[in-house]
Amino acid sequence: MVELADTLALGASAARREGSSPFPGTIQKINKLRISEMRSIIDQNTASRKVLSDSQKVHFPYLIITAGLGIVVRKNVFSPSHFNGWKIFNKNFPSVRNKNVLEIGTGTGVTALFLAKKGAKKVVAVDINPHAVRNAKENVKLNQLKNVEVRRSDIYSRIKKNERFDVIYWNMPFMPMPPDYKHRSVLERGLFDPGYKITKKFLEEGKKFLVQEGKILLGTGDFGDIPCLKKIAKKFHYRVKRIAKEKSVEINPVTFELYELKPQ
Ligand SMILES: C[S@@+](CC[C@H](N)C(=O)[O-])C[C@H]1O[C@@H](n2cnc3c(N)ncnc32)[C@H](O)[C@@H]1O
Repeated sequence: MVELADTLALGASAARREGSSPFPGTIQKINKLRISEMRSIIDQNTASRKVLSDSQKVHFPYLIITAGLGIVVRKNVFSPSHFNGWKIFNKNFPSVRNKNVLEIGTGTGVTALFLAKKGAKKVVAVDINPHAVRNAKENVKLNQLKNVEVRRSDIYSRIKKNERFDVIYWNMPFMPMPPDYKHRSVLERGLFDPGYKITKKFLEEGKKFLVQEGKILLGTGDFGDIPCLKKIAKKFHYRVKRIAKEKSVEINPVTFELYELKPQ
């Protein structure tokens, strides 16, 4: 059954295809979509929810070994075995040797730990999800990394005014939802960004935490609203360059894209 939120999201996608802003005037625009297009948007949304729910039906905790790191995965944390974006982003991440990195939305810490091991000077890894914060701290300890600090933070809420980073990274919750959509669980925060409001805040405030030549790296995918993302980046005066695009091998395949955003 298509629920109200799904219907509205459908409207958002329809408007996007028409090249307008993502949410207003959606009802009429839906009519212009072919049934097959509508079906595919509903399918994306339903499929992602299903993967999210399936990701919690496994036996916890479990361990993933990657790049010489052991990553324990706990319940209620965004699953690195069901969502594979991190593999593509880690593989294509530019060198962070001796750099200070901030990772927003670290989940299990699978990218923060990878960057720390790859020679980052320091990685500050944050998440809004308290289960993720505990899980990432556990993984830092397990891998005996001294250059990672994990904090609970709503984007930059726990970043000190005088902290500066060479790189700020987020594998963002890239599936758009209507602005008034309420997350049904803390886990859904890993997938859905209602009205792209969180992304706007991330980009608007990000600049003040960057060093002069610093940059933002943003991981997204083809289920996301990339035209809207580029519009937001333009509004906040970033130069945008795509540095990777790769299709993942997962239950619900996604073409992931990694963008570099530099303040102009
Ligand atoms: C797509 S998941 C990425 C998880 C992990 N970094 C990975 O690559 O597998 C997005 C993460 O962002 C977190 N998140 C969502 N909204 C946030 C916010 N306002 N502040 C901090 N983290 C947030 C979610 O809890 C989730 O862990």
